[in-house]
Amino acid sequence: MKDILDLERYPLDRPGDPACAALVERCRQDLAEQGLFSLHRLVRPEAIEACAQMLVPRFAQAHIHKRAHNVYFLKQVPGLPDDHPALRMVETQHQTLCADLVTDSIVTRVYEWAPLQAFIARVLDMPRLYPMEDPLARINVMGYRAGEGLNWHFDRSHFTTTLLIQSPEVGGELEYRYNLRSADEPNYEGVARVLAGEDPQVRVLPLAPGTLNVFLGKNTLHRVSPPQGPRARVVAIFSYYDRPSVRFSAEEQMGFYGRVA
Ligand SMILES: [Fe+2]
Repeated sequence: MKDILDLERYPLDRPGDPACAALVERCRQDLAEQGLFSLHRLVRPEAIEACAQMLVPRFAQAHIHKRAHNVYFLKQVPGLPDDHPALRMVETQHQTLCADLVTDSIVTRVYEWAPLQAFIARVLDMPRLYPMEDPLARINVMGYRAGEGLNWHFDRSHFTTTLLIQSPEVGGELEYRYNLRSADEPNYEGVARVLAGEDPQVRVLPLAPGTLNVFLGKNTLHRVSPPQGPRARVVAIFSYYDRPSVRFSAEEQMGFYGRVA
């Protein structure tokens, strides 16, 4: 793994080392202050470049997702009129390579590497994390070309783990409004303000290829700014769970990917 990951800078394989404990502490602080933490260039530049070169041509066979949605991914929100500005429709479009199309890449090796799972669990203060067993969903490599993008939304999962593989020339940055809502305050007016481009507290996070990011997106509204130029934004989404053996049903696989594994 040391040829792929920068383990001198990030001693994930030595959990008892004081340097690792200090890293855990730094990541916890970032989580508390910004709702995310990043391990900048965890994957070495040569390794992530080779990975991008190998995976980008495979998007020719990728499944294209295109959908109009609101930030909640819901048809209706109880108590909110359909024309409320918080329910404004936005468009998301991307290409997806499912896990079974990237088994020979370093993305799969990093995803399955137990010390990384243990590290993320430790930062998040969870007993353990498990990789998903689903042959399609465990890893999704998403490609966003110019004109495509991941639009404003709240996540349904508690946290999301991503590994950036390639950045576009311009755009493709994570834009987020930290803790815009809470469990008991939906803050619809605040959502409308972000959608209208009128919230000065929206932050931008530029990420370098090879960077691992863990993001708490349940109450933090976020999107990826539209990529520009010929190079696509390519990012791997790692699905980890607090329990083993999680899989999708055949119906779920069909619904998400248009095929069954
Ligand atoms: Fe998200």
